[in-house]
Amino acid sequence: MKIVVTGGLGFIGSHTVVELQNEGFKVIIVDNLSNSKIEVLNQITSITGIKPQFEQFDLLDKERVNTLFNNNKIAGIIHFAASKAVGESVEKPLLYYQNNLGSLLNVLDAMLATKQDHLIFSSSCTVYGQADQMPITENAPRKDAESPYGNTKKIAEDILLDTTNAYKYNAIALRYFNPIGAHPSAKIGELPIGIPQNLIPYVTQTAAGIRKELAVFGADYPTPDGTAIRDYIHVVDLAKAHIVALKRLIEKKNKTNLEFFNIGTGKGSSVLDVIKAFENSTKKKLNYKIVARREGDITEAYADTTLANTELGWKAEKSLENALYDAWQWQLKQ
Ligand code: UD1
Repeated sequence: MKIVVTGGLGFIGSHTVVELQNEGFKVIIVDNLSNSKIEVLNQITSITGIKPQFEQFDLLDKERVNTLFNNNKIAGIIHFAASKAVGESVEKPLLYYQNNLGSLLNVLDAMLATKQDHLIFSSSCTVYGQADQMPITENAPRKDAESPYGNTKKIAEDILLDTTNAYKYNAIALRYFNPIGAHPSAKIGELPIGIPQNLIPYVTQTAAGIRKELAVFGADYPTPDGTAIRDYIHVVDLAKAHIVALKRLIEKKNKTNLEFFNIGTGKGSSVLDVIKAFENSTKKKLNYKIVARREGDITEAYADTTLANTELGWKAEKSLENALYDAWQWQLKQ
């Protein structure tokens, strides 16, 4: 029995494949290499000693998806594959709706046609928008999405709600907070294309001298130091949450057909906290300046992780410093 990991060569996907193989699962990676590199496959093999099965195709190719499900005994699906650049999604909304929702629909069709059951879906804390209360529980209302990208996550959750209800298959949607860091081996990590949009790759590239200085987007937020607050979670902790969620479905421990879990550390850190933590853990000084807020950014988001702690028995173990150290080691290898 195998686990299909779509987008398995991407940032979170590759770390999850490593943890799956460490736990003895056989993995089939499906990836179209649209935002990942084939070298990652060798790196996964080098970390775990096992080469995962790899299928290079686009999940919009319905026939290929059906063939995959018909030709393999599949015990579960972890669906990561999606386009994820917020700015690009505003310029090319059709591409985002097509890629992110079309691929999900094809996976669901093939899954149901072959009577597969267990689906883990990558959702995002972006569905909460600026939540009214911190920390954010799973019951917080979902808000209008700030971007087509965010909307694809919200609509995908709705698709899961309707289809688990109608077809009675089992799924878990994990709502990630901000995944950062890299594998401690420094063999896999985040590979941003072009100028990084996310904070941590920008920080490490600035420290490496690739970027002149980090622009801190806004110091006039209603937070203790004026900069925006997020819940940064080490990607290895996040990857492990997928394994416990998958086991929960396989062992039939889920309480409803579709469950949602926040996956974060439960701790909010400001942009200045991140800069300080980076400087402390790497002993590198970071050039930065405060600039205007970035459009569409929220003030704060951090998770109430009680449900994941109690129901999944999962808890983030690694610190912010630890994640930043690993991200830096990864940067040094680039
Ligand atoms: C972003 C996306 C979100 C997505 C998530 C995935 C936006 C508006 N949101 O979240 O939809 O789910 O990535 O990881 O892009 N910052 C700086 N300078 C920088 C970059 C970022 O100060 O050069 C600040 C931001 O203003 C924010 C924090 O750092 O306060 C984190 O930013 P980022 O890493 O882009 O994540 P999010 O904006 O939380």
